[in-house]
Amino acid sequence: MRLHKIFFLFVFQIVMLIVRADEGMWLPQLLEQLNEKKMKAMGMKINARDIYNINKGSLKDAIVSFGGFCTGEVISQQGLILTNHHCGFDAIQNHTTLERNYIRDGFWAKTHAEELPNPGLFVTFIIRIEDVTKQVLKDVTGSMTEKERQSIIEKNSAACKMAVKKESYQNCFIRSFFEGNRYYLFVTEQYNDIRLVGAPPGSIGNFGKDSDNWMWPRHTGDFSLFRIYAGKDNKPANYSPDNVPYVPKKSLSISLAGVKEGDFTMVLGFPGRTTQYLPAAAVEQIVHVNDPVKIAIRDRVLSIIDQYMRKDEQIKIQYASKYAGISNAWKKWKGEVMGLTSTNAVQKKKQYEAEFLKRVRAHGVWNEQYGHLLEQLEKQYHEWEYYSYARDVFNETISRIEIFTMAAQYHSLVTAYEQNGQKGYEAKLPEVKIRIDELLKEWNLQVDRSLFHSLISFLRMDRRMEFLQPVWTRFSANDTSMVTLDQLVYGVPVLSDTVLAKNNGFVSADGKTAIEAIKKDSVYQLYLSLIQTYSRVIVPSFTEYQGVINRLQRMYMEAQMEVMKDKVFYPDANNTFRVTYGKVKGYHPRDGVEYGFYTCLDGVMEKYKPGDYEFDVSPKLQELYRKKDYGVYGVKGKLPVCFIAMNHTTGGNSGSPALDANGNLIGLNFDRVWEGTMSDIYYDPSICRNVMADIRYILFVIDKLANAGHLIKEMRLIPNK
Ligand code: ARG
Ligand code: GLU
Repeated sequence: MRLHKIFFLFVFQIVMLIVRADEGMWLPQLLEQLNEKKMKAMGMKINARDIYNINKGSLKDAIVSFGGFCTGEVISQQGLILTNHHCGFDAIQNHTTLERNYIRDGFWAKTHAEELPNPGLFVTFIIRIEDVTKQVLKDVTGSMTEKERQSIIEKNSAACKMAVKKESYQNCFIRSFFEGNRYYLFVTEQYNDIRLVGAPPGSIGNFGKDSDNWMWPRHTGDFSLFRIYAGKDNKPANYSPDNVPYVPKKSLSISLAGVKEGDFTMVLGFPGRTTQYLPAAAVEQIVHVNDPVKIAIRDRVLSIIDQYMRKDEQIKIQYASKYAGISNAWKKWKGEVMGLTSTNAVQKKKQYEAEFLKRVRAHGVWNEQYGHLLEQLEKQYHEWEYYSYARDVFNETISRIEIFTMAAQYHSLVTAYEQNGQKGYEAKLPEVKIRIDELLKEWNLQVDRSLFHSLISFLRMDRRMEFLQPVWTRFSANDTSMVTLDQLVYGVPVLSDTVLAKNNGFVSADGKTAIEAIKKDSVYQLYLSLIQTYSRVIVPSFTEYQGVINRLQRMYMEAQMEVMKDKVFYPDANNTFRVTYGKVKGYHPRDGVEYGFYTCLDGVMEKYKPGDYEFDVSPKLQELYRKKDYGVYGVKGKLPVCFIAMNHTTGGNSGSPALDANGNLIGLNFDRVWEGTMSDIYYDPSICRNVMADIRYILFVIDKLANAGHLIKEMRLIPNK
């Protein structure tokens, strides 16, 4: 009896370790084989083939990679696409002027003619995915160096891409999966004429801003609308006023039925990057070394920028988007450390590794092949730690001092001149001028100077950054205060002087003169000296360890897939199309606190602070709220705003559709909850939740607030019975 119980406990523990419901970013072409059964058991009513089918329009044909950094979905037969407000933000910002403030007031095109083109913006459809592992790894052997391996893989991949059958207007690329154990080829179609159709006012699209970012409960209507335009033949075409709305193979139907706790949901999209298969030692390093120092540096950066933004309206506008970007990752890392700690992720990884090792030891061949893998990985990570720390610190500091970013631009001129003489210089110059002008638009001398003081002091105080000492000695002699360095950079040197005078004329048309002047500039010299020292001391070892680690991670991945047969593996996110599924569910973040699974407009009003930068509410929305004028989008006098579920998502999944059991659109993914942001490294079903805007809130805003009923008419709505 007791033995029985012990056995049961043991098996139960392993099962807990291996099968964590809802985890995973799955490959669409393998759903039928790996996931369909479980998805149906969880409530899915459609088939895997309705999601991915290369012979017939399927859900994947309604999903696009939006600009390569977000996801979007087609929601009408006239190429209308839905994505997040923060994904469309650049486009919205580019069309914004003081007179037409689309960021603040929103934008709605009343006709196709009013839709606004966005040069450079594109969307990509996935036409088909092929397994090309055999072809890509042909002639690759285990005894090769990483370099040899890489060069064969490149050669084979090129051959593969040449051989693939595709139309002239289609593209293809190959990506590595499972740390280089599998290769898939993607045939894609890219549309380059993408026009802005609509965006809510910032007080809805970015309600709660940084305070609410990564948080639940949430009340943001984080959406915007675009339209794909195609040539008259419906094929990809560059922008032309003659282009016409694209007719898609598939567009999503929209359900007004909403969600209940426990409902099946899935999210289709383009997650960017995760690292799920790190050994415990590497996770430990993230928790104790890398994340904390990156957070500490950004603490300094954010508090400096914030001080200036509060004092000065101009700086507030200039630094708004920069600040949001810096704080987005900063807040995510803080959540990540918290979540990895609270879930004991390192300990759980160690348990998993112990089980792996036990199975390996019990098997002669495995033991020979994989017996030392974990030990080696651990050793490599430990030795790598110093270099990876130095790299993070160097990047986080130097890249925030934007006078160095400008110096880097000048450096590219020097390189162009040295490689290709006057010709190379002339070819590079226009690009550099544009880039410097862009940088200057969002740059303030005092802010940069304060950042310089704070970050250079940080570098000089950090014992592990002592390798930079020769630089400090050379440029500031024995002055340990910041006075000498400050004078050198922000005194009267040529580069900053020029930059400040916005006088790119200093960059003479004559390469030789210009390069001589640049080389004499003290900011340039300091920048170059920092970069060269770092490149000499840190980069070679960093790269070498990275190579060894990549190789070991590849072997560890292969070994896990062989040894842990009872676990179904999914590859780390790599910016390719994935499907994730999970149930709608609230969570219990800490003692005494329970979170529900949805929010309503009432919560927007609870957070409302008149005139506030983050929590203001427009008069129109207040009026609709007072009258409870929710149309078909409300439920019993309430208007749903956001909800959460257990879908495993990451950055890049922004703008992804949340679909119900029938494949109908019910929400728009835009974030994760703070306690669960460690799901990039370790997914824990108890606190990992993705955050979605309820589609009914989005439709309400389009219909009632923006009076853009003509857009609703384009869509296919399934009424709530
Ligand atoms: N945290 C979300 C993401 O990672 C939303 C970011 C945009 N919103 C913001 N308040 N910065 O992209
Ligand atoms: N907001 C993120 C994005 O822009 C998605 C949130 C996440 O990281 O899960 O992709």
